[in-house]
Amino acid sequence: MNRRRDKAAEVRRGVSCALLCCVLAWPWAGTADQTDPERGEYVARAAGCVACHTDLENDGAYLAGGVAFETPFGTFYSPNITPDPGSGIGAWTEADLAAALTLGVGPDGRHYYPVFPYTAYAGLLPGDTEALFAYLRGVPGVAQVNRAHVLPWFMRWRFINRLWKWLFFDPAGAAERRAGRGAYLVNVLGHCGECHTPRNRLGALDPDMHLAGTRDGPDASAVPNITPHPDTGIGRWSRKSLHDFLRRGMYPDGDFAGGLMVDVVDEGLRYLSEADLEAIVDYLQSIPAIDNRIGPADGTAN
Ligand code: HEC
Ligand code: HEC
Repeated sequence: MNRRRDKAAEVRRGVSCALLCCVLAWPWAGTADQTDPERGEYVARAAGCVACHTDLENDGAYLAGGVAFETPFGTFYSPNITPDPGSGIGAWTEADLAAALTLGVGPDGRHYYPVFPYTAYAGLLPGDTEALFAYLRGVPGVAQVNRAHVLPWFMRWRFINRLWKWLFFDPAGAAERRAGRGAYLVNVLGHCGECHTPRNRLGALDPDMHLAGTRDGPDASAVPNITPHPDTGIGRWSRKSLHDFLRRGMYPDGDFAGGLMVDVVDEGLRYLSEADLEAIVDYLQSIPAIDNRIGPADGTAN
């Protein structure tokens, strides 16, 4: 800004333009000078693809699937997303991947179960989907046949997913959820709400309780309230504590995170740039504080 000039209006216009540019460019910041596969790897980390599609517990091959997800609706197994042409997704086009991630539909028209968080990925920026495709095409192909889900009879028909989507899936609302880099990292890529937001009886997230924690999280574990409520959320955490937690999974008192948050940090968040972690911190501190007491895990760290 040129402070010597006395043309207030011009300065104001300049400021608004600069702000607008920042806001518009924000979601892309930090990835501009990476090649597609590099950016794709970064997105795969930020989006948690690695933790869900690699069977870390049994030393499974990278992205070859087989991770079990026990839910009230049955046990789901993640599929092989390596480029093996037979058992993986080697025959998929970029459009196939985009449709799976943002619409929850497979190349054969099948509707995916929402345990695959396409409800969050619906907001993926097209550039990030392209980059993911470029990256996934280059990882080692692994011949590993997908494990069938173990579901009660009424859940076996994928038709039920269509119905579910009709009730709860709003791809158009996705653009709203990615306003700003932090919102994009939390709501779209990081799909933090998949664990931190309570669900209704049909498994859909409660939009009025965004990130307010739940006693019935995945694996029947409690998941803390991460809204900035001072007593029941993380409102008393300093920026630095929050930043360090996301980077290393360590609480301000030196304890390490447990449960499902371990993989979220180890396989995802710890690979993020400083700027992206800061954007997550900013976003988490800016959302409405919701008073929802979950259990001893919340409000402990100041
Ligand atoms: C919370 C765990 C989870 C996360 C995170 C996740 N997935 Fe999945 N994914 C699944 C599960 C479970 C399925 C199977 C869904 C079904 O059968 O309806 C699936 C299905 C898929 C499919 C369909 C494969 C096929 O053979 O039809 C693709 C492709 C895929 N995921 C890619 C990704 C990518 C890329 C990411 C990251 C951007 C990602 N997934 C993140 C759990 C996850
Ligand atoms: C797969 C489920 C899952 C996902 C996805 C997830 N979390 Fe968590 N998170 C947890 C669990 C479980 C805990 C409690 C860990 C513990 O008890 O040590 C937790 C703890 C936390 C805490 C500590 C809060 C406290 O009061 O103890 C923060 C902060 C947090 N998560 C932020 C995030 C952010 C940001 C994202 C998205 C980028 C995210 N989480 C995604 C499951 C998840």
